[in-house]
Amino acid sequence: MASDSNQGQVDFWNADPGRNWVLFQPEMDLVMAGVADLLLLAADPAPGESAIDIGCGAGATTLAVARRVGSQGRVIGIDISEPLLARAEERRRESGLDQTSFLLADAQDHAFFRGMADLILSRFGVMFFADPVAAFRNLGAALRPGGRMVMATWAEVEANPFFLVPGRIAAARLGPPEPSDPDAPGPMAFRDTARVTGILRDAGLAEARADRHDVDLHHPGGIEAVVTLLTSIGAIPRLMRDKGGTAADMAAIQDGLREAFSGYATPDGVRIPAVINLYSATRG
Ligand SMILES: C[S@@+](CC[C@H](N)C(=O)[O-])C[C@H]1O[C@@H](n2cnc3c(N)ncnc32)[C@H](O)[C@@H]1O
Repeated sequence: MASDSNQGQVDFWNADPGRNWVLFQPEMDLVMAGVADLLLLAADPAPGESAIDIGCGAGATTLAVARRVGSQGRVIGIDISEPLLARAEERRRESGLDQTSFLLADAQDHAFFRGMADLILSRFGVMFFADPVAAFRNLGAALRPGGRMVMATWAEVEANPFFLVPGRIAAARLGPPEPSDPDAPGPMAFRDTARVTGILRDAGLAEARADRHDVDLHHPGGIEAVVTLLTSIGAIPRLMRDKGGTAADMAAIQDGLREAFSGYATPDGVRIPAVINLYSATRG
């Protein structure tokens, strides 16, 4: 199913991390709702259009696009994670949005019908390709001439406490993670806008640009809900697993998170400031 080079990502998203995303899907969709709004505003899906959602996960943005393209349009969500796609398919059935389908495949090398899409979009699903130039060349061929691509990705970790704070707290308690290439596939791989617009151009796309946006990650629950989320998904469970963390380590990390995020508590939940890079390009 996947190109060999993405096998590590297939393993990752089909194991505990993918299953935990399914468990926390309703919360993740609330927290990431502001990003979906920015993405849809920029992508502007129109009635009757045909779209592909890359790394669609549990399908929140796929279904949002389906509502916008309407019954005369069409949207395909593609992902390598079976548990996330199973949840997406469940939501599709519940929604009755029959213009939607989901596909278990690697977007880097899946043989899309050439020119099939007016629009390709993604919320945080394009930073995991082992060969991003090959992936975007493949995606570009799936666009009709003049078709557009819009992708939300994270800016640098320093601007994103949702990643920075759990990473720092876990490393302080458990020791630093193994050093890794900052441009390797991962959530922050598309932080450098000059590098990524270069990748898009090298892949043969036109009008490549990046726009930086501030956005609040709004969790309508309280601090405890944020602590539970951040100890279940992301850097903390990964480092706990890699370093053999104990229950005492976890308790200390939870205390650290409570303290660090209390400053973001508001009367209507926790609002964590974040910065994303919204990339766009067209098939010339
Ligand atoms: C951070 S999650 C985002 C999920 C979803 N777009 C959302 O916003 O909720 C990244 C997703 O990209 C998927 N993914 C990673 N590499 C992929 C690839 N090569 N082809 C298709 N999907 C991929 C993962 O399985 C995962 O569901």
